[in-house]
Amino acid sequence: MDWRRTHFCGAVTEELAGQEVVVNGWVNRRRDLGGMIFVDLRDRFGLVQIVFDPNLLDDGVFAQAEKLRGEFVVSVRGIVQLRPEGQANPNLKTGKVEIHARDLTILSAAKTPPFEINRAEDVDESLRLKYRYLHLRSKDLQDAIILRHQVAAEARNFLNENHFLEIETPMLIRSTPEGARDFIVPSRVHPGEFYALPQSPQMFKQLLMISGFDRYYQIVRCFRDEDLRADRQPEFTQIDVEMSFVEQEDVMGLMEQMICHIIKKVKGITIDGPIPRMTYQEAMERYGSDKPDTRFGMELVTLNEGLNDSEFRVFASTISTGGFIRGINAEGAGTFTRREIDQLTEKAEQWGARGLIWMAVEEGTVRSPIAKFLTEGEINYIVESLRGKPGDLLLLVADSFKVTSEVLGRLRLLLGEQLGMIDENRFDLLWVVEWPLLEYDEEAGRYVAAHHPFTSPLDEDIELLETDPGRARAKAYDLVLNGVELGGGSIRIYDRSVQEKMFKALGFTMDEAMSQFGYFMEAFEYGAPPHGGIAFGFDRLIMLLAGRDSIRDVIAFPKTVSARDLMVDAPAPVNQSQLQELKIKMLD
Ligand code: AMO
Repeated sequence: MDWRRTHFCGAVTEELAGQEVVVNGWVNRRRDLGGMIFVDLRDRFGLVQIVFDPNLLDDGVFAQAEKLRGEFVVSVRGIVQLRPEGQANPNLKTGKVEIHARDLTILSAAKTPPFEINRAEDVDESLRLKYRYLHLRSKDLQDAIILRHQVAAEARNFLNENHFLEIETPMLIRSTPEGARDFIVPSRVHPGEFYALPQSPQMFKQLLMISGFDRYYQIVRCFRDEDLRADRQPEFTQIDVEMSFVEQEDVMGLMEQMICHIIKKVKGITIDGPIPRMTYQEAMERYGSDKPDTRFGMELVTLNEGLNDSEFRVFASTISTGGFIRGINAEGAGTFTRREIDQLTEKAEQWGARGLIWMAVEEGTVRSPIAKFLTEGEINYIVESLRGKPGDLLLLVADSFKVTSEVLGRLRLLLGEQLGMIDENRFDLLWVVEWPLLEYDEEAGRYVAAHHPFTSPLDEDIELLETDPGRARAKAYDLVLNGVELGGGSIRIYDRSVQEKMFKALGFTMDEAMSQFGYFMEAFEYGAPPHGGIAFGFDRLIMLLAGRDSIRDVIAFPKTVSARDLMVDAPAPVNQSQLQELKIKMLD
């Protein structure tokens, strides 16, 4: 028989009733009932039920059908028939029909897989990653990978429509000192010299602007040797964009249209623009985070004003040393047990607080270990400022702005989740703007670029580079989706004198800068247009659109948190001869 399919499994519906079809796929499940064999056959497009009836089949074909096991790959020829009354499966697109087999070819037998394909969650992740190609057969992962394709296609559609050109940039480049740690690649032709894998195409895309391409994009792999988390992989993908002759608002305006276009096309959700904007400072004040999850309230409140004269030792010493007393209201958490509160305190301490002050609001009073140290006026001030109602739990931290932000920001997220305050169906987008240009690096004893050294300061802050660099703000912007940093970008410096000031603030002389970024700096002497851009974390975008918690779930072949590929077993040692060719010798 010609085994090649006439239809996809998932496309066999009632319109085909009475027709002969050939389908190809994997045996998802086999059941034997009343002397007949029922098989659910699976391909990328769905499942269809096949019936092998010994009364209608040659003995040889039925004997073949008896050999079928899960994950066998087969071709079935048969007649599409409506299922008997009452036996339709409303959960399947093909649920009203079944195929009555006439012929069967086993294309490939299968060993029993190490886990049931659609119940992979029941086994250890390392087993799933080792047999990733099997896990990728599951509906969950297939859906995620298909969504990934659709998002890439929609991003391309949007950018192509808007005059962007997709241009590739090299993967073997030169290691640069700023930023995360590079992955390096030894050169055989030039022993002792190394390439680096790009952390992003940043300098190349800027050079493409200098070359006059005007609008560039690339869906591009980036490599960073950094500590991994659920939303970080050593190799990940960006939707990388750069535009010429633009200011910040132009980039943000077009990019928010792109994200809204993607969400509309793949999720059918319309987001009413424009996307709200918040300064970095406001985000830290209200949410204790530079990527606030705005799907719920529980905002941070600063309480210094009413506690200035407090005799409570913790408050008095915090205020006298320029610190902050800030709090959140965990509404309805007044019923938390001592143990639950102790667990919150432990977390707060892990995150850097010296302690966590709690206050359970009750009818006309509060229950709190510190109540006896405060005046009634102070207690009322705290309760009112945090809008405490009976049944609420107020949590306070007294420390620096940084520590109070960090601890309360994280407690807020933890409690928001614990108390079921987060509406999982919402897509809350937010631009965070006016970032600090520089951060002080205690270890290096100097300022480092918060974004990268080519990010432009706000025009009104250029002078601060020479007088008070830590206060200079950048023309930088991050797009946040449901509390995840989805993308970040900036307007770049294209004026040499500003670049010089920037390098000076970073502790470089122009000569030192030239020796590190020489080719790049030189390019700016041949006519550079004003330009700026952004890069979105493509994996993160898919993770959020797919409603997953980890980017591993939306990458076909991801690495573990310890940066291993368990399927190909990488990294791995190489032959002595390979090392010799590269003139590399192991230390031990
Ligand atoms: P940035 O370093 O902010 O900017 O990166 C842009 C976006 O990439 C995603 N991202 C990651 N995703 C997964 N794993 C990682 N290890 C990882 N690191 C970053 C994030 C982040 O917002 N060249 C600049 C952009 C520009 O200025 O145009 C850049 O790379 O979602």
